[in-house]
Amino acid sequence: MKNSNTADRASRASDPILQHQPFLEIRDLSARFTSHLGELDALKYVTFSLQRGEFVCLIGPSGCGKSTLLRIVAGLLAPSTGEVRLRGKLQTQPSNKVGLVFQDPTLLPWRTVHKNVALPLELAGKPAATIQERVSELLGLVGLSDFEDEYPANLSGGMAQRAAIARALAQDPEALLLDEPFGALDALTREVMSAELLRIWERTKRTVLMVTHSVEEAALLSDRVVVLSARPGRVIDIIPVPLSRPRSPRLLSTERLQATAQRLRDALGCDNGVCADLQECGSVQLAA
Ligand SMILES: Nc1ncnc2c1ncn2[C@@H]1O[C@H](COP(=O)(O)OP(=O)(O)O)[C@@H](O)[C@H]1O
Ligand SMILES: [Mg+2]
Repeated sequence: MKNSNTADRASRASDPILQHQPFLEIRDLSARFTSHLGELDALKYVTFSLQRGEFVCLIGPSGCGKSTLLRIVAGLLAPSTGEVRLRGKLQTQPSNKVGLVFQDPTLLPWRTVHKNVALPLELAGKPAATIQERVSELLGLVGLSDFEDEYPANLSGGMAQRAAIARALAQDPEALLLDEPFGALDALTREVMSAELLRIWERTKRTVLMVTHSVEEAALLSDRVVVLSARPGRVIDIIPVPLSRPRSPRLLSTERLQATAQRLRDALGCDNGVCADLQECGSVQLAA
């Protein structure tokens, strides 16, 4: 991994386009849904970008269009206005360059952990030996080597989500999109999974865009946090996280992390009652 990161940095340094161009660019994105109730604007002119290898969290009140934004970035939904570019290339449909993890791990219950993680590689027609090697490597990365023959029904929530992360990484995507991946887990498991995600990200250095409803989680994990307004989601602020890496959940109780978490709450309006009025966030966490 270390070598490939070094190679990545070297190729980036020698590539004048990649030096100046954002890796993942989200430009002027709007999303409008039409239903029997009329038209609904979910997102309005959302613009931000991620540098290669950057970890960016997206936070905002429930219903402000976070999942919609991720679906557009993943190529699952066409925007009403705007565009998404990965390394400058327009993204209009799902691609193996972008991996997606949802709150629900969506594992196939009749397949073992190994077979679930292998699925994208099977669908891509990879040779059996390549699949075996890649899946073993990924299960090692997410700490599931001893559980490869288990079925999803026998996994804890945290383990199922590790398998979903391994599956999303199977095709070696350049960007990983995570939509509240730990939202359904208890607080302790959530902390363990944050530590796991930090470790996995340090090793793979994938570009990550993650939706979370926890301001603490956003401060712990990301390099920058994009704060969206209530629907239609617009970018209110983009807040850098001034914490050095590597990081661990021990930082959660530190003043430095809490100062960033407070900045995020302020940007969301948590303490002045804006979110409370909208019944969209509590004093610490936004409702999912
Ligand atoms: N396919 C759809 N058709 C109609 N409305 C939708 C659709 N998907 C999402 N919405 C609406 O768009 C808004 C944003 O949804 P979503 O992106 O899921 O918000 P978030 O993830 O921030 O909670 C919500 O009001 C939701 O009801
Ligand atoms: Mg959502």
